[in-house]
Amino acid sequence: MKGLKAKNVLVTGASTGIGRAIAIRFAQEGANVAVNFYKQEEKAEETKEQMLMEQACVQIEDCGVKHIVVQGDVSQEDDVVEMFSTCINNFGGLDILVNNAGIQNISPSHELDIKDFDRTIATNLRGAFLCAREAIKHFLERKHGGSIINNSSVHEIIPRPEYVGYSVSKGGMENLTRTLALEYARHNIRVNAIGPGATATPINDWASNPAEKTKVEEHIPMGRAGTPEEMAAVVAFLASDEAAYITGQTLFVDGGLTLYPDFRQPWS
Ligand code: NAI
Repeated sequence: MKGLKAKNVLVTGASTGIGRAIAIRFAQEGANVAVNFYKQEEKAEETKEQMLMEQACVQIEDCGVKHIVVQGDVSQEDDVVEMFSTCINNFGGLDILVNNAGIQNISPSHELDIKDFDRTIATNLRGAFLCAREAIKHFLERKHGGSIINNSSVHEIIPRPEYVGYSVSKGGMENLTRTLALEYARHNIRVNAIGPGATATPINDWASNPAEKTKVEEHIPMGRAGTPEEMAAVVAFLASDEAAYITGQTLFVDGGLTLYPDFRQPWS
């Protein structure tokens, strides 16, 4: 994809799932990638190993591609500041931020412990803002612009009972994306999001249970869950020069889940 080669990219929560696939995809495109992890260092190292195997230039010494693994809890300001300084010092600059880290918490809303609500918002929304803030600060300093991609969800627009913290965080992410896009458009800083539908990753218990997966897939117009690689491809597109005139948008990657599937059959 145009304009990704030799770019410096930070992907948060990249030790597993969609983040892992995004990190690998950027490596395939010839970018330098920082793999952020919170607790799963071993898995982050595995992601890096896979990137080295799949990157555009197999001999790293020949093409000068560099990948790093960087620890940090995105909800903590000190961790985020430290993580950005590690990336910028290692790469000499940053061009693309992917806010991917996310968690969910399931409970009837009237029984939800406030600590769980706060933790979900802190990771999914506060964390995305803290990282975006540090990235924009850097993009403005070096004056070349930059690109931010937020990993949102179909639940940015579809309410999800018993996932209130998650739904609120992703709803907030829509306005995070749009507000920052408008505020910094003149500086050639683009801010976009993807809105994945059901994707088979560790965040979903059904992903490892074939019977449960089939039940989930019955609700999806295209009849199947998405793959992390399908999400990663759209993130790469939005970060690339192919999307140079796109900002403030959420691109839903959902097999039709946002098309009101219940209306497939006439009701009356
Ligand atoms: P996942 O559980 O494999 O990935 C989430 C990653 O975030 C993990 O690697 C986890 O360690 C990391 N993380 C959690 N808290 C963190 C923190 N405080 N600091 C840094 N990293 C932290 O699940 P998945 O599906 O790959 O999720 C990635 C993103 O995709 C999330 O934002 C999620 O909301 C979004 N998404 C996923 C969908 C799905 O069906 N799998 C659908 C829609 C959106």
